[in-house]
Amino acid sequence: MKILIVEDSPTQAEQLKNILEENSYQVLIATNGQDALNKINDYAPQLVISDILMPEMNGYELCKALRQHERFKHILFILLSTLSDLEDIVSGLESGANYIITKPYHVDDLLGHLSSAIKIHKIRESELDENNVQFLLNGHVYMINAKKSRIMDFLASIYAAAVQKNIELYNTRLELQKLNNMLEKKVEERTAALRIESEERKRYEQQFLEAQKLESMGKLTGGIAHDFNNLLLIALGNLELLNNTLQENSAERNHVKQAVTALERGSSLTKHLLSFARKQTLFPKSVDVCEHLTSIITLLKPALSERIDISTSFEENLWPIWIDPMQFENAIMNIAINARDAMHNAGKIHFEVSNATMDENIKSVGNPLEHDDYVKISITDQGEGMPKEIMAKIFEPFFTTKRMGMGTGLGLSMVYGFIKQSNGHITVDSEIGRGTTFNLYLPRSNIAIRQEEEIITPKKLASLCGDEVILIVEDEALLLKLVFTYLKQLGYDVLTASTGMEALALIKSGKRIDLLFSDVIMPGNITGPALAVEAKKLMPHIKILLTSGYSKDILNQSELTLGEIQHLTKPYKLDALATKLRAILREKSYG
Ligand SMILES: Nc1ncnc2c1ncn2[C@@H]1O[C@H](COP(=O)(O)OP(=O)(O)OP(=O)(O)O)[C@@H](O)[C@H]1O
Ligand SMILES: [Mg+2]
Repeated sequence: MKILIVEDSPTQAEQLKNILEENSYQVLIATNGQDALNKINDYAPQLVISDILMPEMNGYELCKALRQHERFKHILFILLSTLSDLEDIVSGLESGANYIITKPYHVDDLLGHLSSAIKIHKIRESELDENNVQFLLNGHVYMINAKKSRIMDFLASIYAAAVQKNIELYNTRLELQKLNNMLEKKVEERTAALRIESEERKRYEQQFLEAQKLESMGKLTGGIAHDFNNLLLIALGNLELLNNTLQENSAERNHVKQAVTALERGSSLTKHLLSFARKQTLFPKSVDVCEHLTSIITLLKPALSERIDISTSFEENLWPIWIDPMQFENAIMNIAINARDAMHNAGKIHFEVSNATMDENIKSVGNPLEHDDYVKISITDQGEGMPKEIMAKIFEPFFTTKRMGMGTGLGLSMVYGFIKQSNGHITVDSEIGRGTTFNLYLPRSNIAIRQEEEIITPKKLASLCGDEVILIVEDEALLLKLVFTYLKQLGYDVLTASTGMEALALIKSGKRIDLLFSDVIMPGNITGPALAVEAKKLMPHIKILLTSGYSKDILNQSELTLGEIQHLTKPYKLDALATKLRAILREKSYG
């Protein structure tokens, strides 16, 4: 069969020619309608396949011209169309074309359509009655008896529906594309979130390991400091007794004074170590953090340089916190002085205080926090900041980057120990050259804030004498002897015991005892607080004073109520002991 291809694009024309020739068709190419008219007489094809849009003469015009042509008016004419417009079909029918094949095409579809078109053309040529149409579809010949116009309406409506479906499909594809993009974005976001989560987890695990390291250091330090503390107390007490026997302004007194100064420095060092080891005795109470911090800042200002500005921001309705106010003051002072040093005496320190609920992640890495609610105090400076390697060490005792003699490296160790012992939490953020922020999380108190109790002022030694009966319980023999001698000097009647059992026997013996002065931790089963409870049962009017430099929090251990127990921190000065004893003995009995 001879085919004339009319196509202005040489590549498309060649492509079509090759397909047809491979399938045994004979092919000639014309580049537009006019060219086709020039070639058609000589070539005499049985079939024309024509593009629609072409220069000079388009596909419709060519078809119309051929339908006027005596020789070629019944030729099979196929249009190639993209079928993007409903008008394509109407213009095609109007021009007298027989068939439309859509572009772009698959080779198999093209050949299938071509053979259908050839078959149906043969049928059409044999038709006698214009209203009696035979129709070939899927290999069957159908007979349709209808007016042409009705067939056209029908086909046009189907075409419209097909175009509509096509638009819907197109829109669905766009929608799918959008969903796909959204999904990809979600996956990206989730991946980023997972990465952050895993980094945070690593950070918390690192913090946990550091906390464990500090915990073991604390145990070691605490043990040494405890023993050291008792030795210092004995030496200090003996020097105090010796001092009372020496002439004022004598050279010996001067030697004693120097020894006392050195021992006091040692004592303050041990106190710091005990505080890092979380072994200092705390006296927590409900504190209004806004009020307390404001007064600390007032004290702080003169201690810092004039070129340091302090600003504050307090959230409204802050919860009260459960904390030892004195130790809290020390902690804030330490942090502020570090900030001053990091800023080389000029810059800004900002305090920000807000209510906070502890992050679940911090808890989940094994932080034994009992509380959910905290007050968060953030202290930010504009100092030189710290690299990660330094940040990992700042809470270790004796770690300092300051020049010899400028820092002990115990400041933050104390802060750390105190915060932990107070069931709080501390974190630090720092950036080199930009500054540092310490965040303190302090536990919320459920107890209403009480008015300040009266502070006992020290009086002269002579005015501290008494004649009551005091039972001293202390396992350290030298210390027991020291306190015994001293209280005797003051006129008291003194009984002694070196264990809880011994003390209990004395209490049960029916002797008069006005006050029990006992160490908290002692060998044997009976601790100071347990002894106090027993003594109260047997002698409701007995007064109690407990002493320790080591107990975690004696008030928690004791079954006595807060108001009934009194405490003196080791190492104590003998006149502080005397002051405390007189104050307690003067109070009305609680029994
Ligand atoms: N705000 C801060 N900015 C930069 N570095 C800091 C800051 N606070 C602490 N550091 C670093 O942590 C180290 C340890 O601090 P810490 O308070 O325990 O000891 P110190 O200040 O060196 O000595 P001391 O407190 O006895 O005077 C400091 O030497 C310093 O390197
Ligand atoms: Mg410091």
